[in-house]
Amino acid sequence: MDHFTYQNGVMHAEDVPLPLIAEAVGTPVYVYSRATLERHARVFREALAGVPDKLIAFAVKSNPNLAVLRVLGATGMGADVVSVGEMRRALAAGIAPEMIVFSGVGKTAAEMVAALDAGIGQFNIESEEEGVELAEIAAAKGMTAQCTLRINPDVDAGTHDKISTGKADNKFGVPISEAGQIFGTLAKLPGVNLRGVAVHIGSQLADLAPLETAFEKLGALVAALRGAGHTITHVDLGGGLGVPYRVGEVLPEPAAYGAMVARVTKDWGVKLIFEPGRVIAGNAGVLLTRVVRVKRGIKDPFVIVDAAMNDLARPALYGAYHHFEAIEPKGARMTANIVGPICETGDTFAMGRECDALQAGDLAVFRTAGAYGATMASSYNSRGFVAEVLVDGDRFAVVADRIEAGAIMDAERVPEWLA
Ligand code: LLP
Repeated sequence: MDHFTYQNGVMHAEDVPLPLIAEAVGTPVYVYSRATLERHARVFREALAGVPDKLIAFAVKSNPNLAVLRVLGATGMGADVVSVGEMRRALAAGIAPEMIVFSGVGKTAAEMVAALDAGIGQFNIESEEEGVELAEIAAAKGMTAQCTLRINPDVDAGTHDKISTGKADNKFGVPISEAGQIFGTLAKLPGVNLRGVAVHIGSQLADLAPLETAFEKLGALVAALRGAGHTITHVDLGGGLGVPYRVGEVLPEPAAYGAMVARVTKDWGVKLIFEPGRVIAGNAGVLLTRVVRVKRGIKDPFVIVDAAMNDLARPALYGAYHHFEAIEPKGARMTANIVGPICETGDTFAMGRECDALQAGDLAVFRTAGAYGATMASSYNSRGFVAEVLVDGDRFAVVADRIEAGAIMDAERVPEWLA
């Protein structure tokens, strides 16, 4: 459930009519709903009521906007970060360092130092090599890094190849077959307290079965590690729960996920960490866009909108579906190709899509754009970065300025020897 609904024939974000935001801020613009973010955070937490000891760490990569992080932090969420940039955002949003988990296969030495200095709660180590380096850095500082070892369970998450992370040939984690031996090696090192294991098998999962398989493998590993004399107090179960992008699409509810987790982990006796991103932020945001013009096509017309693949990359990158609808639908429908202005055919949001009839100047939205939307934007074709707005009841605020193409150009230099 979200708070983007029609009132008197006009789509609103909570109590704010979207044309008001388009007027004030221009288009394209991402619009987030505070009430939806808070609702999703609450639903996810309630779904895990059966898990006594837990940390829910929002996956910052899905929506790193400071105001969004502030809203989620206030609900009691920590943060899952994958770079020092994300860590600084979480801290700036007021999230306590001990509630920050640092994941990612390519943490640099400088990032490890910064994260140790900030006092973050946990590093999820992704390889033996990384563990050795972190141990050296922490020991040299006279510190002990709290760590889990990320396991690659070799489970097919059944999602898009580019967002699958738990198959043996993916770059993430250590092979589960070698986990016991690598854990043994790293656990001996001064500088790290290896206290558990972590897993994340992929994103936009439409089925709980692969997650359950992965968690069961992890449970067996925890037992084996304990059998080998290790103390296991923390297990990080990652994120990955999918959300509906299409009208009427049915995905596993957080409650079903929570029940499965409680059942599989009931005898583990550990603190569980969760890293949800999309399920919290996805349907809490839309990309508001204006139709530039409608161009005749050989078959269907092209609805050319002012948003493009640089603003919302998911359709171009993954062939992802984003529901598209008019802000003031008049009842008529059309079948159209929905495209942006960028000069490549990849800049296509949908082909042959049935949608509200639209003409030049009309406003429309791409839904489910609150996760992996603005954060994946680029300035391709010398387009700027889109503005972001947060709505709260009947008020709204610009929470990220539009960065104009000119400002990006201003950061470039022509060397004297070319002048
Ligand atoms: N934890 C780790 C270690 C992750 O790598 C990810 C996502 C998450 C948590 C959060 O997963 P979520 O709950 O959001 O599924 N750009 C892609 C998605 C990439 C996901 C990368 N990792 C997209 O637009 O679909």
